[in-house]
Amino acid sequence: MSQRDKTRQSAVIVIPTYNEAGTIGLMLEYLCTKTFPLLLKKWDIKILVVDGSSPDGTGNIVESVAKKYPNIYLYKETSKDGIGAAYLKGFKYAIEELKADFVFEFDGDFQHPPECIPVMLEAVDDGYDYVIGSRKIKGGSNPKGWGFKRVFFSEVGGLSARFILFFPFKNFFKVTDPTTGLKVTRVKSFLDRLDLNYSHLLTKSFGYKLQLLFETLKMGAKFKEIPLEFKVRDAGESKIEPQTAKDILIVALKLRWFDDFTQKFLKFGIIGGVGFIINVLGAKIFKNIFIRPDSNLSLLNGLCNAAASELAIISNFIWNNLWTFAKEKITSVNVLFSKFLTFNLSSIITGIIIPSVCIAIFTSLFGDYLFLYQVIAIFGLTIPLNWFVYNKFIWRKKP
Ligand code: GDD
Ligand code: MN
Repeated sequence: MSQRDKTRQSAVIVIPTYNEAGTIGLMLEYLCTKTFPLLLKKWDIKILVVDGSSPDGTGNIVESVAKKYPNIYLYKETSKDGIGAAYLKGFKYAIEELKADFVFEFDGDFQHPPECIPVMLEAVDDGYDYVIGSRKIKGGSNPKGWGFKRVFFSEVGGLSARFILFFPFKNFFKVTDPTTGLKVTRVKSFLDRLDLNYSHLLTKSFGYKLQLLFETLKMGAKFKEIPLEFKVRDAGESKIEPQTAKDILIVALKLRWFDDFTQKFLKFGIIGGVGFIINVLGAKIFKNIFIRPDSNLSLLNGLCNAAASELAIISNFIWNNLWTFAKEKITSVNVLFSKFLTFNLSSIITGIIIPSVCIAIFTSLFGDYLFLYQVIAIFGLTIPLNWFVYNKFIWRKKP
């Protein structure tokens, strides 16, 4: 059992390695002699190398350097399982055995400058829960030696990932470098709430970065980016494979698609669409049933539409209750009745009164473009307002 140092917080730098014999020895020496000494007053720092059974003897180098520095640990994987799997194994070990308060994700090839470590520790000491190195903010950069193709793929990939994961919410603007590999995460309330069995990963390869990013931010981590000057490799070669980009893209799409919020919003949209069809078809059917040769057409149209709208509202309420908001489902008859009245009232306000008034105002301001105003009113007002009312008033999430 390792004794826990109570006066200092513990940080574990997890370094996954596969065939990094050319750099890992220097890396460990550098960290222990140049980076850590300045930090020891405040931090109890350990290094955990997770080696994927490198055939080039990386593990042996780590073992021999570890004889000199007692704060270096080696986790030997029995096979190369992918960088994501290596990290999760490392996280588990860092939390359970090394009692980490903070865990770093750090590459073993000098592409992540060790000088970032003190900056990141300062940020977590200031109260941030999740700090990542970004190549896209002021002070950050890609290696000078990268050709057009690599820069292009990195930019397009990063931007797509940002868009797929977060658009149009605030993290789309806050996370400038979603695929970055340099991170530190607070263990308490964040890393310790993640499922650290790597079978839970959508991919054991590089896409795990996006999954952990998405899940950690979803837990409400206080997030900050620091500039990362991503360097060229000192030796050895990248383990990114041709299919990695596709892999990452699929992970991003899966994360967003299966997210609770997305699933809810899709169901809400489908039910709304069905409601719209009920409204249009219902009015037509009622009209066919009730029309007489001497009918007052304006009265008939109005009444048929009102009846069909009410049917649509009833359908919306029932299906949203059973499907979209299944987790918040209302079951008590009394509550059901009062919520249905609220739902009805709000549907009239958000679906009829507000859009109609706006359409009237738009017409007086900009001229007669009824269809355009209807589209704007439905997508810009009715849908967002309904979504808001459903979530905040009708099916409020239980804390
Ligand atoms: N144990 C283990 N198993 N380690 C691995 C494996 C594996 O399957 N694959 C890679 N590693 C180790 C490498 O040895 C290295 O120390 C670290 O993980 C990063 O791998 P690199 O192969 O050097 O990745 P990269 O430099 O191409 O990519 C870096 O930059 C990307 C952004 O451009 C990484 O930081 C990525 O996470 C990041 O997305
Ligand atoms: Mn690298």
